[in-house]
Amino acid sequence: MVDYIKEIERLKKEKNAVIMGHYYQKGEIQDISDYIGDSLALAQYAAKTDADIIVLCGVHFMGETAKVLCPDKKVLVPDMNAGCSLADSCNAADFKKFIDEHPGHKVISYVNTTAAVKALTDVVVTSSNAKQIVESFPKDEKIIFGPDRNLGNYINSITGRNMVLWDGACHVHEQFSVEKIVQLKQVYPEALVLAHPECKKTVLTLADKVGSTAALLKFAINSDKKEFIVATESGILHEMQKKAPNKIFIPAPANDSTCACNDCSYMKLNTIEKVYNALLNEQPEITVDRALADQAVKSIRKMLEISAQLGL
Ligand code: 13P
Ligand code: SF4
Repeated sequence: MVDYIKEIERLKKEKNAVIMGHYYQKGEIQDISDYIGDSLALAQYAAKTDADIIVLCGVHFMGETAKVLCPDKKVLVPDMNAGCSLADSCNAADFKKFIDEHPGHKVISYVNTTAAVKALTDVVVTSSNAKQIVESFPKDEKIIFGPDRNLGNYINSITGRNMVLWDGACHVHEQFSVEKIVQLKQVYPEALVLAHPECKKTVLTLADKVGSTAALLKFAINSDKKEFIVATESGILHEMQKKAPNKIFIPAPANDSTCACNDCSYMKLNTIEKVYNALLNEQPEITVDRALADQAVKSIRKMLEISAQLGL
């Protein structure tokens, strides 16, 4: 029987590899990651690492973003089937048509997109910096925002902008049930509701704090409250519980689920065994056409530049 954790450590040193994990990964993967973070942090880590191999424990678009930023490094994703329904909701050819139908608009895309969509984009955002990046454009700038309509609507509502929105969504965040959150509030009347901006407006309206995974984590750690109902993918509860062991985190359930939480089946495809196999075989590897990467990297670098200027 292979001791995966020991072998992963050995292979990492031998191959000068680094493991980056998103907060939605299984707890055991977060625990062996050299860096854990939200989508923005993962892009920032990738941009500055001097490792030869990045094992990106997240979904395909995260690996692709790392590869576009580091074309000379090997970027591995433990399970190549780890996709994203939001990225899938925005096909590059259709998005190009949408852009052509709106001449004179700047294009802002959420990081949950393919490299081909990023190549059509002026600046990429994540949920950590979307508000600030949108506000960095003049008030009268015409803007297309894609692909998440919930995040786009939320940013429009807090900035007073009127961005034209692509009609995409994340199947996990769309599923949170207002009714079940209200029921949980009756059981835990003191609990604050934390929600990711990919949730529908009806859920965001119930929230005491709306933010990226990193922002929700920070809020929960710093809050003087003890109980939190968490409306985002349940992987984040692992780090919340670790950083705030005396607090109670209650996962918000989905509409159609009998289980108490809401998992992204793509995120949960990665396992410790697959991380080990990825490091051992240096597969499955993310590849991006170089010309496409050269175009896509501009909108990602722009995001990183603005974020650095804003101290994000
Ligand atoms: P953040 O980590 O940027 O909050 O993104 C959430 C998400 O849906 C990643 O797939
Ligand atoms: Fe994509 Fe939603 Fe899964 Fe995030 S939680 S990877 S947005 S499908």
